[in-house]
Amino acid sequence: MIKNNEELNSYLTNQNLNEDLILVLKTISDSCFEISETIRSSGINNLIGKTGEINVQGEKVEKLDEYANNLLIRNLSHSGKVFLMGSEEIESAIIPNPNNIDSEYVVVFDPLDGSSNIDVSVTIGTIFAIYKKINNDQNDLENLLQKGKNAIVAGYTVYGSSTVMCLSSSVDTSLFSFDKNGRALRTHSNIKHGNSNIYSVNESNWNNFTEKDKSWIKKLKSGTEGEYTARYVGSLVSDFHRNLIKGGVFAYPYDSITGEGRLRLIYECNPLSFIAKNTNGDASDGERKILEIKPSNLHQRVGFYVGSKKEMEIRKKS
Ligand code: AHG
Ligand code: MN
Ligand code: MN
Repeated sequence: MIKNNEELNSYLTNQNLNEDLILVLKTISDSCFEISETIRSSGINNLIGKTGEINVQGEKVEKLDEYANNLLIRNLSHSGKVFLMGSEEIESAIIPNPNNIDSEYVVVFDPLDGSSNIDVSVTIGTIFAIYKKINNDQNDLENLLQKGKNAIVAGYTVYGSSTVMCLSSSVDTSLFSFDKNGRALRTHSNIKHGNSNIYSVNESNWNNFTEKDKSWIKKLKSGTEGEYTARYVGSLVSDFHRNLIKGGVFAYPYDSITGEGRLRLIYECNPLSFIAKNTNGDASDGERKILEIKPSNLHQRVGFYVGSKKEMEIRKKS
């Protein structure tokens, strides 16, 4: 545990969060700092490249995916306060070792988002959300298959030009930076969505967009709704972070030909949708509020629209 992390301690205490939950959040903060440090020097520590494994998503696992995943599982298990975990990298529910059967909290995470950007030193991140367990059965997936609206706290870290951690509850959403000792120092409080005109869409998928989405994006481009510019990092967490601070919308629609979504409801969409809601933004799968969707399986993928309400409203009318 990072020593003298007083600013984070007092922030979490002032949020009236339960002591156990505070320990879980401090564990995540410490883990993210460690991941950040490791990423910074990954090129000289043989941590760039693939492991040779294929994960449950059918994607080639990067060494840093595996590293971040193992670190979070180990540290959260050792916190003693986590009942169950779910990770984008792991097919089934993760029961902590030691077992912590009496603990309350369920943590879900995308240990490293934006894996395709690792080997080109472009911003990547970690995304997470914390829930309370529903029952005392660690083998009951219902503890993980909770609607996003049940989240108590969600957050992310972006490992970008600087490392920034966002923590969000219904009371407050704040940003933190780490000092060289790993202490999280608050830089922004009570964050609300900005109002710049930005859209973040991978337009190479254009031919598989619905007519509604094509008409929406054409509207954003046309200038009738204000001058828009496009920004697409290809790491959801970075695109979300930029749009939160500056304003704008991120969209990764369902593929209208296959009906498939790209992004994972539990590990990516729910945490960011929870943050969007707390910061006066909005999130949907095109039809339904993301936070109202009952997950049907641990790795369900959905269409995802998240960001400022303004662009969501323009889409409704498109
Ligand atoms: P991950 O690295 O966790 O698998 O997630 C990658 C996701 C997301 O970060 C990003 O927005 C999206 O994949 C990019 O997909 P495209 O390359 O199809 O644009
Ligand atoms: Mn991801
Ligand atoms: Mn990932």
